[in-house]
Amino acid sequence: MWNDTLITRRLGIRYPIIQAPMAGGIATPKLIAAVSNAGGLGSLGAGYMSAQSIRETIREIRQLTKAPFAVNLFIPQTNDHAVDMTAIDSMKQYLRSLQEIPQEVRDEILNLSLKETKFDFSEQLSVIIEEQVPVFSFTFGILPAQDIDDLKQHNIPIMGTATTVAEATELERAGVDTVIVQGAEAGGHRGSFLEFDDSSLVGLMALVPQVADQVKIPVVASGGIMDGRGIAAALALGASAVQMGTAFIPSQESGAHTQYKKAVVTSLGQKNVLTTAFSGKPARIIQNTFVASMRQYAGSIPPYPVQNTLTTPLRSWAAKHSRSDFMSLWAGQGSPLSRENEAAEFMAALIKETSQILESLG
Ligand SMILES: Cc1cc2nc3c(=O)[nH]c(=O)nc-3n(C[C@H](O)[C@H](O)[C@H](O)COP(=O)(O)O)c2cc1C
Repeated sequence: MWNDTLITRRLGIRYPIIQAPMAGGIATPKLIAAVSNAGGLGSLGAGYMSAQSIRETIREIRQLTKAPFAVNLFIPQTNDHAVDMTAIDSMKQYLRSLQEIPQEVRDEILNLSLKETKFDFSEQLSVIIEEQVPVFSFTFGILPAQDIDDLKQHNIPIMGTATTVAEATELERAGVDTVIVQGAEAGGHRGSFLEFDDSSLVGLMALVPQVADQVKIPVVASGGIMDGRGIAAALALGASAVQMGTAFIPSQESGAHTQYKKAVVTSLGQKNVLTTAFSGKPARIIQNTFVASMRQYAGSIPPYPVQNTLTTPLRSWAAKHSRSDFMSLWAGQGSPLSRENEAAEFMAALIKETSQILESLG
């Protein structure tokens, strides 16, 4: 059976379908539990959460499901202090000049403290271990050897994200159990950590078989997979599971803003671009007024996480006033294939479609 793979056996799940971690409140406990209860693996995107809030959310998920789920963290960035004050001032000035936003948001931008609220990674990871989370995944780097040892001692399976063959082999060398291969189509931030340029934007069709040939650990395919056709294709390319993000944004259980859900399901014909406009880190997004206007700053946008902090007042205002023209509409290139859904029904549809396609292919 197609659903019996290295990953389903190792993680104790019925179907090789992982709902991607989506930091920022999209992957709610309800969404995670619905996916896990349907036989997949729901994932909590905990990168922006405090240790305490991660612990509470894990407990909330456990109230809703007995099935395995994953928790995902961001590997801390090392270049945080390399900040160009001129670029910051010029960005503040630009953001404050936006006609659409009210005076109080302009004032908030002016008075922003760039001492961002950064959560202590070791505290976050301690919660993962103390709570004996069923699966741990990470992105934006390599987990230090000591942390890998700690997780292994506690029998917590580790999944790391790679965007190139070189990153996948580094992760395998570091000792992770599974590599999540993120194709160039993927929605949200690029997980690239060795370098980022055009050569790190490899399509999933080319990347999955190359990684599968080069590593011995199981491969999860991620990026642009929206339905049973994508799942069947990924398995044919050598993946042992898929990780799908954009497809779950319009789920009823997702915490995405209603306007964001709407923008994703109606994105046919809209531009989907890579931008650093919102966070300072390259991310795939549906282009809106704000992203288009930021093209003039290409190359001089402050790096992550500074830009993320600078745009926070703008994004909060956009969410509060349902202004999708200023929201961060993270989405992959497959977003026009998305459908409004209720997660359990969607999972059932994905399973049925994959079975039918693989049957029809003989
Ligand atoms: C809104 C959004 C938020 C995301 N947040 C995270 C995250 O917190 N951690 C992570 O490892 N990946 C994150 N990703 C990337 C996903 O893991 C995955 O690579 C991507 O969703 C796959 O492409 P798709 O969106 O076309 O399915 C995010 C993706 C989206 C769309």
